[in-house]
Amino acid sequence: MKTFQVLQLSLIFSIFVNLVQSQYLFPDDFKFGVASSAYQIEGAWNVNGKGMSIWDRITHTTDIVPDNATGDIACDSYHNWERDVEMVKETGVDFYRFSLAWTRIFPDGYISYVNQDGVDYYNNIINKLIENDIEPVITLYHWDLPQMFSPQGGWANPAIIDLFTYYAKKAFEFFGDRVKLWITFNEPKVFCQDFNLFMSAANEVYPSGVIDYMCTYHVLKAHAETYHIYNREFKATQKGRISLTLNFEWSEPGSDSPEDIAAAEQRRQFEFGLYANPIINFDYPKIVKDRIAERSKQQGFPESRLPQFTLAEKLRIRGTYDFLGLNHYSTWHVFAAAERDIAEISYESDMGTFRNQSNEWPTSGSDWNKVVPWGLRRILQWIKKTYRNPIVLITECGYPDQTGTLDDEPRQDFLRDYFNATLEAIHEDQVNVQAFTIWSLMDNLEWQQGYRIKFGLFHVDFEDEARTRTAKKSVAYVRSVVETRKTD
Ligand SMILES: *[C@@H]1O[C@H](CO)[C@@H](O)[C@H](O)[C@H]1NC(C)=O
Ligand SMILES: *[C@@H]1O[C@H](CO)[C@@H](O)[C@H](O)[C@H]1NC(C)=O
Ligand SMILES: *[C@@H]1O[C@H](CO)[C@@H](O)[C@H](O)[C@H]1NC(C)=O
Repeated sequence: MKTFQVLQLSLIFSIFVNLVQSQYLFPDDFKFGVASSAYQIEGAWNVNGKGMSIWDRITHTTDIVPDNATGDIACDSYHNWERDVEMVKETGVDFYRFSLAWTRIFPDGYISYVNQDGVDYYNNIINKLIENDIEPVITLYHWDLPQMFSPQGGWANPAIIDLFTYYAKKAFEFFGDRVKLWITFNEPKVFCQDFNLFMSAANEVYPSGVIDYMCTYHVLKAHAETYHIYNREFKATQKGRISLTLNFEWSEPGSDSPEDIAAAEQRRQFEFGLYANPIINFDYPKIVKDRIAERSKQQGFPESRLPQFTLAEKLRIRGTYDFLGLNHYSTWHVFAAAERDIAEISYESDMGTFRNQSNEWPTSGSDWNKVVPWGLRRILQWIKKTYRNPIVLITECGYPDQTGTLDDEPRQDFLRDYFNATLEAIHEDQVNVQAFTIWSLMDNLEWQQGYRIKFGLFHVDFEDEARTRTAKKSVAYVRSVVETRKTD
């Protein structure tokens, strides 16, 4: 009897301990990283042979960016790259995702002239990372198109497909012996659809609903060709993986009504499926094709404004991914909406629907970056279901504030919540997510928001010529998660 009671007690005790301690752990092979991009951090915009990109031109000649901010100096990572590597080391993560400035290596964009200084710059970073046991992950195109290609229409001109693949092939030749993870494009939906005026040149207006779809069409073809070049000429010897990174804000139905449920799915297909479906499934999503074709017809166009792939092209694009790169920031409520005036030719009117965000969702330093961790879990579930559970690498996720404070508790809370959502997706939904990348390594030029919005794990003193970097509190938190594999 006594023994029995003791046993019973100890059993109850162990269940209790289990309940208290039961925390999902990140699997041993789950990887953590931090990210940046060339234009946002490097500076040295015209130093040692670098050519001009569209972002140099945009910040110099338009008022799109507040405070006359430019990336002329930015974080001056051109000179501070050793410190950058040290900082990545301090976070304890496994990899550093950064991008190549095409025009630092090929000032005119053409591969006919190599600026050796640019090759040396990236070689130095890559070698230093590897010396420190940090894996380099390279994005080939993070929005800074060579300005040379701008007057010809940039991504709206099919010539860009070959020009991009020539550049990509050179990058594999220069760096592929040490770089094992490649991302062709970062967020094509943003540079084609959202900022379509940035895709090529500022000051010129590119009509939405026409030119942006040409950008989409060319980007998908350029991505596929690059994938095939890597597969054919480099994969056997370099043994790396290659894909692209798509951004996805979760569209949650605004109500249980069938109309709102359908509207949310429609929005996901326009925002994410437009790029993911041709690569992972086959062709553009049906609802996207049908809606654009129908509206085009009603508008008097002889064919759809969305350029169609031939069967050969569909087959060539399908399967060109070794993983799916996912950038995620926030979540929206989506509602069915009355069709917009048929006279309105735009991506937005093709997409239809209406969205807003709940006032109950905690906010951050940027209006729309509401903190909604379950949105990430729903995305991962949706990707699993829609694309047969591909390998997903979260290539960006992060929290913005406006102060750059070192005492960044809200960022730490955000990371804990989004890490937890990732853990739930792994352990409860058996989603194949294998990496989490924090945007960003340090405060930097946040595109059209200038230096006002700060995502960094490290603070950068932009008043100081040395651009001194200081760890925020969340750095220690990230290090502890990487080490302990748990979130608190
Ligand atoms: C994160 O998940 C763990 C369980 O895995 C839990 O103990 C913790 O309270 C969660 N934290 C938050 C902020 O949800
Ligand atoms: C931006 O530059 C213009 C032209 O040099 C100047 O007139 C304006 O005051 C500047 N604005 C800010 C916010 O610095
Ligand atoms: C969002 O839009 C819906 C549908 O129009 C509306 O009922 C709701 O009040 C809106 N929410 C906010 C926070 O504006």
